Amino acid sequence: MALRARILGAAAGGGLPQWNCGCENCRLARTGAITAQTQSSLAVSGNGKDWAILNASPDIRQQMAASPELHPTGLREMPLASVLVTNGDIDHVAGLLTLREMQAFDLFATGGIHDVLRANPIFDALNPRVVTRRTVALDAPFDLASGLCATLFAVPGKVPLYMEGESVETELLGEQTVGVHLSAGGRDAFYIPGCAALTDDLRDRLRGAALVLFDGTLWSDDEMVRAGTGTKTGARMGHMSMSGERGSLAAFAGMGVGRAVFVHMNNTNPVLRPDSPERAEAEAAGWTIGQDGMEITA
Ligand code: MLT
Ligand code: MN
Ligand code: ZN
Repeated sequence: MALRARILGAAAGGGLPQWNCGCENCRLARTGAITAQTQSSLAVSGNGKDWAILNASPDIRQQMAASPELHPTGLREMPLASVLVTNGDIDHVAGLLTLREMQAFDLFATGGIHDVLRANPIFDALNPRVVTRRTVALDAPFDLASGLCATLFAVPGKVPLYMEGESVETELLGEQTVGVHLSAGGRDAFYIPGCAALTDDLRDRLRGAALVLFDGTLWSDDEMVRAGTGTKTGARMGHMSMSGERGSLAAFAGMGVGRAVFVHMNNTNPVLRPDSPERAEAEAAGWTIGQDGMEITA
């Protein structure tokens, strides 16, 4: 049985269009000239029957409704076995609140991310009698769903925006931002929706990988500043950009990755416009621009 993945949401926090944004992409998405995209999430299965959701986005209700594989199979029977969150960012955890209807599933995260969830009592809406919080150590393989194995590894990043103090370390390596290695029936894939830099360790891990879904937040580091939609650079947000010397297109060149797919794209990213030169450049470099509902079989 192959490893199946379905992109539930290809956009970064805010989605496309973002409610308060009048940038070019958001305007085009409102008119239907480009396709709207929901917030960051991926569904994966090792047996085509039991599914895990990686990151619970604020759009999860709509995402599950649009995904037949995730529909109830009985009155209260769900193919959803587990949810795994890769950091504590709002776009990756707010959807947990939607999953509060006394439905059993396992909630996987590192101890550091579970601490963040525990510090927010609103998540106690997930009744512990049915939702089991499971703490996962870095670099230790575990069963994420039937026939689906996962391993978490540290990726440079920062604490969630709402936990930032006076000074922020944006390339922290630890339990607060992780990537996921997935394997099922001899097939494997990597899911890394947030990454501040491609370290030597990450390079070694990803070299020759069959499938990588990777942080595509921005095309250029100062994109939001230039668009006038924000004051932060990608680096300050803990995201490496696609272009530039230290960007992902350059960093992945020659790594021998079979299929590379961008996910978690911010609404300002020009690759979201099918006719943009940036999209052509990313595709010429071998990348696929992820889309809501895209199915990928490894
Ligand atoms: C990010 O990916 O940088 C965060 O999701 C930002 C946010 O929480 O809005
Ligand atoms: Mn995000
Ligand atoms: Zn916008």
